[in-house]
Amino acid sequence: MPENEEIIEVLSCHANGYIRSLACSHPLRKQVLCTMFDFLGLKGKGLDLGCGIGLPAMEAFGKGVEVVGLDRETEFIEIARRIVRTFSSSTGLPPPPEFVQGDVTCLEFENNLFDWALSLDCINYAKDLVGEPLAEMKRVVKPGGRIILAAWSSQALLPGYPILEARLNATPQGAAPFESGMAPQHHFMFTAGALKDLGLKNIRCKTFLQDIYHPLDPRILRAVADLFCMRWGKSLPGLSPGDQALYKALTDPESDRFILASPAYYGFFTYTMFTGVVP
Ligand SMILES: C[S@@+](CC[C@H](N)C(=O)[O-])C[C@H]1O[C@@H](n2cnc3c(N)ncnc32)[C@H](O)[C@@H]1O
Repeated sequence: MPENEEIIEVLSCHANGYIRSLACSHPLRKQVLCTMFDFLGLKGKGLDLGCGIGLPAMEAFGKGVEVVGLDRETEFIEIARRIVRTFSSSTGLPPPPEFVQGDVTCLEFENNLFDWALSLDCINYAKDLVGEPLAEMKRVVKPGGRIILAAWSSQALLPGYPILEARLNATPQGAAPFESGMAPQHHFMFTAGALKDLGLKNIRCKTFLQDIYHPLDPRILRAVADLFCMRWGKSLPGLSPGDQALYKALTDPESDRFILASPAYYGFFTYTMFTGVVP
């Protein structure tokens, strides 16, 4: 196993659930993120805002670009730096990504420094991050450079149970980070409007899809099982007792109805991306 996979494996058992999920979901998200990066044809030097433990930035680096990752969590930045040491030793691609602690609402970078700025499952995914971070992204990207916002946008993970899945998606946890009462234009799917309001040009929207089907590699199986909890939680107060029991039976690896064990299993999820060019 390459060194970088080994460290991801170790982090997939981390005591901090957030770190564990970021690491554990990586094998599942890696392909769709790489497809997105290939589509974007990233070049030059970019900034990844809300980079987490840096795994997507590391994939972008693998495409031959220079990346700076920024996150407010010091622990995440320390882990990202630790991972980058294993990545750079195994790939030898210069120069390796840099990771810095900071806040997306107030970037400590000079104007027009980057060729692109990306935010994955961070900016515009939470309602308090809509305004200032977008203006900051525009400030630090050169004229002609791109701003890219991408986020998890949908899933179909319970084949054969569309009504249960629709109910799960309608719970507050399933609809998060969109909250009941929020203005529709604050939903992530309205990001194109926010980019237009910012004065960006050539606004583009695109959705990328990742298929998941039997037989599942054990790391993918673990990631999807983790995803059930991450997306919908272990128990959902908004669900009837019957739906709760069915959900548990379908998503519990110990259950004989565990849906991922079916040889007929097929599911998918999507990432939606919005881009605009700084005039
Ligand atoms: C869902 S995680 C996504 C991490 C990473 N982009 C990925 O896709 O693996 C969201 C990240 O945004 C970071 N974040 C949230 N608010 C932030 C802020 N105001 N400034 C910097 N980072 C922030 C969190 O610490 C977390 O690492």
